[in-house]
Amino acid sequence: MSTAITHIGELVTWEPDRPARDNAALVIADGQVVWVGDAADVPPADEAIDAGGGTVIPGFVDSHTHLVFAGDRAAEFAARMAGQRYEAGGIRTTVAATRAAGEVTLQNLARARMAELRAQGTTTVEIKSGYGLDVDTEESLLWVASQFTAETTFLGAHVVPEGWTADDYVELVTGEMLTRCAPHAKWVDVFCETGAFDADQARTVLTAGVTAGLAPRVHANQLGHGPGVQLACELGAAAADHCTYLTDADVAALADSGVVAGLLPGVEFSTRHPYPDARRLLDAGVRIAIATDCNPGTSYTSSMPFCIALGVREMGLTPTEALYAATAGGATSLRRTDVGHLRPGARADLLILDAPSHVHLAYRPGVPLVRRVLTA
Ligand code: NIG
Ligand code: FE
Repeated sequence: MSTAITHIGELVTWEPDRPARDNAALVIADGQVVWVGDAADVPPADEAIDAGGGTVIPGFVDSHTHLVFAGDRAAEFAARMAGQRYEAGGIRTTVAATRAAGEVTLQNLARARMAELRAQGTTTVEIKSGYGLDVDTEESLLWVASQFTAETTFLGAHVVPEGWTADDYVELVTGEMLTRCAPHAKWVDVFCETGAFDADQARTVLTAGVTAGLAPRVHANQLGHGPGVQLACELGAAAADHCTYLTDADVAALADSGVVAGLLPGVEFSTRHPYPDARRLLDAGVRIAIATDCNPGTSYTSSMPFCIALGVREMGLTPTEALYAATAGGATSLRRTDVGHLRPGARADLLILDAPSHVHLAYRPGVPLVRRVLTA
């Protein structure tokens, strides 16, 4: 069964020699892109979809979310907007609500958030645990996450739970918790930050995860200058996410190591921290991704278009660079070559936008431009 998408005003494929083309068509078959080219040359297909002159882009790849949780922290957000600082300890509020919710409720909440995300064009999503912080709940969160995505991340080391010393908790995370969680996870993550885990504790968590067959990624340099980025580079992590506070040495290490800097501008929006300087990273040769970090504490948005708009307005990106970071950049962060682009061979995960060009994603912030989402 093949489908031709015709009458495309602008088609973004990220082909190296021609990243976008006007008046284009695209053919998909068996869940893959099999042809892209000029509208006039489209080969015959079993059926056709008329894009009506709209824009076709790869589905968004959201490489950092915490979608499985219960509870609400709107009051904390309101207090921050009235001048209070963000404290990492707020995570424990969500932990209490999540532990109390039970697996069925958590699954229903996650399903609703997945629908919200998809309606806004996200077709690949990473989901972390981290609001359980005990063996049973962390395993349950990862099991729920694995019902929705292959990109699951064990974040038992999100914060030290009430009643534990950091060292005892790291022992639990790298012992019984890891044994129970690893079968449901592809990645291991740690919140390396003052108030969460220091460099040695974070290294212990990540290396134990690697030994258990997981690949590392890091919450790094979110609330201040710290060792997270350097640790990510030392361990060859796939991603160092946040990167809000970077020294020149951090930027150089990211460029040299090829670790993807995950930029999460919903966090700066919601915590009033300064936005990371994406222009500085690109100019230094660092690979970047844009993601939502969807979570109830620091970034309760599921909208990649919103994050793209912030990337353009607040982080120094052009609309094209921001879209690249939200698609191909996210794919690199997840070490995926089958998503984030629409070259022949890609998964047929694509969006039809009610817009004449991808620039409208930032030019028309907050406007629901995603008309149709197709997935393989
Ligand atoms: O990515 N940085 C750590 N974790 C989340 C925030 C979690 C929370 O406050 O609930 C983040 O921003
Ligand atoms: Fe996060």
